[in-house]
Formats: sequence, structure tokens, C-alpha cells
Amino acid sequence: MTEAAIRAALSRVIDPEIRRPITELDMVGDVQVDGSRASVTIKLTIVGCPAADRIERDVREAVATVEGVDDLDLTVTVMTPQERTALTERLRGARRGMPFTRESLTRVIAVTSGKGGVGKSTMTANLAVALAERGLRVGLVDADVFGFSIPAILGIADARPTRVGEMILPPVAHGVKVISIGMFVDTSESGNVAVSWRGPMLHRTMQQFLTDVYFGDLDLLLLDLPPGTGDVAISVGQLLPHAEVLVVTTPQAAAAEVAERSGIAARQTGQTVVGVVENMAGLVQPDGSVLELFGAGGGDELARRLDVPVLARVPLSVPLREGGDEGRPVVLSTPTDAAASAISQLADHLAHRPRGLAGRSLL
Ligand SMILES: Nc1ncnc2c1ncn2[C@@H]1O[C@H](COP(=O)(O)OP(=O)(O)OP(=O)(O)O)[C@@H](O)[C@H]1O
Ligand SMILES: [Mg+2]
Repeated sequence: MTEAAIRAALSRVIDPEIRRPITELDMVGDVQVDGSRASVTIKLTIVGCPAADRIERDVREAVATVEGVDDLDLTVTVMTPQERTALTERLRGARRGMPFTRESLTRVIAVTSGKGGVGKSTMTANLAVALAERGLRVGLVDADVFGFSIPAILGIADARPTRVGEMILPPVAHGVKVISIGMFVDTSESGNVAVSWRGPMLHRTMQQFLTDVYFGDLDLLLLDLPPGTGDVAISVGQLLPHAEVLVVTTPQAAAAEVAERSGIAARQTGQTVVGVVENMAGLVQPDGSVLELFGAGGGDELARRLDVPVLARVPLSVPLREGGDEGRPVVLSTPTDAAASAISQLADHLAHRPRGLAGRSLL
């Protein structure tokens, strides 16, 4: 039994928040071996680290697998401010500022709409979870500052990000790293709060979400935008001009014109509209007939106007609505549901589409 064997075992312990092995995060201090007795010091990133119990348990389990160790003397301490700063700087790497640039390997997909209430947040949350289920590393930015709803839809309404120095670690829900203004504001007694900021504050918030939140290496970053072409949409357009955009609309033909404006506004910033998602398409009745509650043709009409394909038609669905209310997205709670499978197919489509070279420097 050697110190090396213990360190090797510890390299399998993953920090649940940063999602990297603790050995890579300089969280393992002294390791000593005396006969069959090992002493290990673990340095947590911050005092009162919410993941402390889990890390301690995982460390004990990992060391127990090392042959010849019968006894572990575990000391849990906290990093010094210098060690913490060194860690956050190393994690951020040389790239200061926004990691999601045109050159980064993360695909950015913004979900927008013309009208409100068409199901953007529900689509974004389900899509993110479905993509994470496919093994992709997925981040979700709730860019709807005034109308944030992503934490509730994902069942993490009470989650708060952990701060390590200047770095903010996003809570993880169903495999998705999530950040939302709802995680920063103090809720009133009724549990609700109103954020009423002007443009510059909104811009700064978006910038901070994209720079100070440590998402690590992501395959995909999804953004749930507020409806329309307001300040946030403009800021996101400026910060992420290489983003791909999905426009959500209902089958109501009259909504297509409003939705088209959101697509046009996105294009003006350089973003690429990749397709239309028609949500709240017909409701299947018990007798098998389809009730077109919101009419028909809206998705096709919008796709024609924007000259992009309709990538998904998601029917009205009670399990989908319930999943949103309960914080358990329908793609997990009821994968056989017709709406869930439409969203899953969209996830497959997006997961298999390699990031295009369009707009990327080939040098
Ligand atoms: N296909 C669907 N079937 C049934 N209910 C749905 C469907 N899509 C969305 N909903 C419900 O409609 C409501 C509005 O959805 P959601 O909040 O996702 O829309 P939004 O476009 O994000 O709204 P906002 O513009 O306010 O941000 C929610 O209660 C949601 O559960
Ligand atoms: Mg919304």
C-alpha cells in the first residue's frame, strides 16, 4: 500500500459542484501511510461547503477500496484565501472574460418567441434535460430576468449558487448546470419578488451570468429569453452574436408575424435562426381525434417567413404542464408522452448536428 495508491483512489472522487476530481482541484492535502493506517487531509474550497458531507463520504469510500488500508484518519479543513484564488484562476484558465466566444467549442442556442406564454421556458428546460440525458454537458442560462421561471420548472426553486472567491458555481438540476436571477434575489414573505431593472443593469447581469458563472467545458449552452425583442434580447445578441436561435410559436397563424420579428431581430445581431418549434399543437382526444385548440399553420407560416424548417411540433400535453408545475420535466417524468417524445426528437436532432463552420475562423 502506498501513498500513490491512495491518491489514485482519491482521483475518482468528484467535487459535486465543480464536477472535477478533487485531486485536480488541489483539494487533497497531506496523505500519509503508517502500516495499515492512512491519514488524509482534504481542503474544502469554502467554509460551510454544501457538498462537504458528500465529499467526506466519497473520500472514505474511495480510500476503503485501497488494499491494505484498514483505518482512515480524515482531516477536513478549508483552503486558505491564497489557495482559493489560485484555484479559481486556474479553473478560469488564461481566458479572462467571456468563455463563450465564437472560437469556443460550446454551441450556444437561444430560445426566443414573439408572444409571451408560448412555452419557451418549458421547451428550453425540457430540451436541456433531454440533451444532458444524452450524455452532453449542458448549461442553461435563464435570461428572462423579469419573468424567471426556469428554477421552478426544474424543481430547484430554493437552490442558491455557491460562491468560491469571485467564482459562482451554478446549481445542477437533472444533469443541467443552471443559473437564474431567481437564485440571487431575496424572496418576500409571499415567496415572490419583482425585478425591475433598466437596460444597463440587465446587460451587466447577462454579462456576469456568462463570465462569472463557472460552467466548465460545455457542449451546449441554452438560453431561455424573455418574449419579444427587448433589452435582454439585444444584450444577448451583442454578447453572443454567434448563437443559434430557435423561435417558439403556437399554431395560431396570427402569432407568426410577431414571432417573425424576434427572428429578424436575432439576425440583425448576427445570430443564426436555425428553426421553428411549434408548441401547443393539437390536443389528442380520448377518441383519437385531434382538437386544434390554437388553430393550425402557425409553425409553417413562421418557418416560411423566416425561411427555416419547423424542427418540432409539440402537442398540448397535461403531463408536460404538470411536469413544469412539479419541477420534474416531462422528458423524465413521462418519456412516452407525445410532447416528451417530440422534444426528445428535437434533442436528437440538435445533438447530432455538429457545430457548423459558418462564421468561424478557419485559421
Ligand atoms: N405543450 C404544452 N401543453 C400544455 N401546457 C403547456 C405546453 N407548453 C407550455 N405549457 C404551459 O403553458 C404555460 C406557459 O409556458 P412557459 O412558461 O414555458 O411559456 P413562456 O413562453 O416561457 O412564457 P413567458 O413568455 O411568460 O416566459 C406553462 O404553464 C406551461 O406549463
Ligand atoms: Mg418563460
